[in-house]
Amino acid sequence: MPTRIEVPIGLPNPKQPPEAPPCVTVVFGATGDLTRRKLMPALYNLAAGGHVRDRFAAVGCARRPWTRGEFAAQMRAGVEEFSRNKLDAGVWEWLEPRLDYVSGDFADPATYARLAETLAALDEKLGTAGNRLFYLAVPPDEFGTILRHLRDAGLIVAPTAKTFSRVIVEKPFGRSLETAKQLNGLVAEVLDESQTFRIDHYLGKETVQNIMVFRFANSMFEPLWNRKYVDHVQITAAETVGVGTRGKFYESTGVLRDIVQNHLLEVLTLCAMEPPNSSDADDVRGEKLKVLQALRTPWADTVPNDVVLGQYRGYRAEPDVAPDSVSPTFAAMRVFVDNWRWQGVPFYLRAGKKMAKRVTEVSFHMQPIPLSLFGSGDLCEHVEPNVLTLRIQPEEGITLSFSSKLPGHDFTVTPVVMDMKYTEAFGGEPPEAYERLLLDAMRGDATLFSRRDAVETSWQWIQPMLDYWDANPPKDLPNYDAGSWGPEAADRLMHVDRRVWRNP
Ligand code: BG6
Repeated sequence: MPTRIEVPIGLPNPKQPPEAPPCVTVVFGATGDLTRRKLMPALYNLAAGGHVRDRFAAVGCARRPWTRGEFAAQMRAGVEEFSRNKLDAGVWEWLEPRLDYVSGDFADPATYARLAETLAALDEKLGTAGNRLFYLAVPPDEFGTILRHLRDAGLIVAPTAKTFSRVIVEKPFGRSLETAKQLNGLVAEVLDESQTFRIDHYLGKETVQNIMVFRFANSMFEPLWNRKYVDHVQITAAETVGVGTRGKFYESTGVLRDIVQNHLLEVLTLCAMEPPNSSDADDVRGEKLKVLQALRTPWADTVPNDVVLGQYRGYRAEPDVAPDSVSPTFAAMRVFVDNWRWQGVPFYLRAGKKMAKRVTEVSFHMQPIPLSLFGSGDLCEHVEPNVLTLRIQPEEGITLSFSSKLPGHDFTVTPVVMDMKYTEAFGGEPPEAYERLLLDAMRGDATLFSRRDAVETSWQWIQPMLDYWDANPPKDLPNYDAGSWGPEAADRLMHVDRRVWRNP
């Protein structure tokens, strides 16, 4: 039984929760799903945890002609349905008067004039001091319009000003290297990089952040963390859900753009990077960038061997999906990091919808022992190599499998598992990713946000893969059953390397 540590996750000192400075959070696209499911429950939990205090407000902005009351009612319903903590009447009573709503067309300057009035009134009433955090929960083709209007209305000030204006930009950040560059250029027209917070919610997950702590706050793992001891690494993000109502989005995105280019690469870079000089945003992001730069380019002649795409049976019947769609809902690939630490160690990445189990995890498969000493006289016993698994979700935790003697009068060896579970060690569910990320953006800490160069480098890496599959769409789609571990070709990808997927 692990020792229980009486400190709530994320709060190093429960008496002094990290606190946001005075500010107003403004969400564009406030009537959308993201706001109801994620952003408002996150703001609510920040309020409940004492991370935002009196000098705080949140303003929704969208086309729908809601009143302030209608907006607040919708947000309350969102918290009731999706918050990790039950809605507490007292907290809601505190939060509700701090909510406001501005309706209008994003292309109409009058919308921004009304927004400016609302913000000025909130500054006056709550002392939010002119500090603004804008959240663009809208499709990327609206970023430019909104940013330019915000600038023209004087709502974005220079980073040198006494007050701050920061902008969180939701993914997908582009759909190709070229569009990502265009988008970055457009954002840079209005904002300094220090004001730009490109969100990848995976980085806000407690267990993803713990990859750094696990590696750099313990001395015993780091010496093993390299090609001398690690045989291969597997990173899996499997979901049981299908595309649901997001068929239109998925048709133009597919799993390579939706999950691999961002979430999986973020996890890979945290696992593979060198120790940064400090935990400062730019030190950490600089090291992650170097990993992206060291990724081996997928060439047209290597992609068909190294990458398997899949589509679940039934995808083509989902709403807004073409009956002959070749958009992939599954990908598995062999990836190499060409540097001194990782040369020759394959990183196998796998992501898919409608899989057998919901699980996101990274497993480090260590080298086998050089010689087994156990077994019967003429037959050595096979000894399973050690596997260290970082379980990102669900059942967050870390396991280490190792060999042990099976009790008895001979030397039979069997694998056993040491299992650290977050809920047992710390109690309760870890905070939602968006809570941490919203709080960090309010506090101006960009460590867990993607920097421009990293976004472009990750697109640069994946672009040849996208180009290859655009030119040579897989002919066998759909090729896996809902509720399976993906197409057989994904297993073959491992078998040719004499390895198997860890299917927990
Ligand atoms: C999003 C993708 O970024 O991440 C979705 O667009 C995916 O397709 C989701 O379902 C997965 O996030 P999580 O936190 O549920 O693992």
